[in-house]
Amino acid sequence: MTGPARSTRLAADPRPAADPAVGLAAVRESYDTVAADYVRLVVPPEGMDPVSRAMLAAFAELVRETGGGEVADLGCGPGRVTAYLGGLGLTAFGVDVSGEMVALARRAHPGLRFLHGSMAALDLPDDSLGGILAWYSVHHTPAEQLPRLFAEFARVLAPGGHLLLGGHAGDARLSPTTAYGHPVSYTSHLVPAARLAELLAAAGFTVTARVEQPHPQKADRSYVCLLGELGRRTA
Ligand SMILES: C[S@@+](CC[C@H](N)C(=O)[O-])C[C@H]1O[C@@H](n2cnc3c(N)ncnc32)[C@H](O)[C@@H]1O
Repeated sequence: MTGPARSTRLAADPRPAADPAVGLAAVRESYDTVAADYVRLVVPPEGMDPVSRAMLAAFAELVRETGGGEVADLGCGPGRVTAYLGGLGLTAFGVDVSGEMVALARRAHPGLRFLHGSMAALDLPDDSLGGILAWYSVHHTPAEQLPRLFAEFARVLAPGGHLLLGGHAGDARLSPTTAYGHPVSYTSHLVPAARLAELLAAAGFTVTARVEQPHPQKADRSYVCLLGELGRRTA
């Protein structure tokens, strides 16, 4: 599910918190299973709501203004948003834990680079990126692992680089049994937008914008976009 225009039916999860490795395997297996139908069912970036597209455009402008540099689209799925960033003047590549998503992305966008791996342990040098996009992809990371995830984002982003985090916000752990017409076993860990902003600040980001759009049916959920600029490090 990407953007306010669509949502997957999510059920509250009564199970105890899962082992992180098991959780990531479930994400990988689930997105491997749904990949082709995800592309068929989820609206491409060109059809997203105007606020989401405006945030992507603002992110692109900020990255360009600060000298460009490579942008990593973390949790890129089939690579459509990665390619869209190219249309906004950015040099972008994608990273995804689902091999099937990476294969689809490579087939659809042969001119772009897509890496298979976890955004929590990036095979990238320190300070090497001008920007990071995490678009509807961090909600599969348990809340207690977000400090380490955002520290990893800060490690690979150059000082003064920009982050755009877009996705689901709320306060719930949800386990849909089906998505995009297939059984899935992943968990969605929804965190309030204010908490996401705090965690980004703790990782060294200055949060420069926070835009929340209400969920059309659930009063306690929203779609959030957070723009962050990585503060200059002294060491
Ligand atoms: C809802 S899809 C969004 C895909 C893409 N960003 C888009 O908007 O079309 C979530 C994607 O994040 C990926 N993902 C989730 N957790 C990840 C992790 N720890 N490392 C890499 N990819 C991850 C999934 O495999 C999936 O392709």
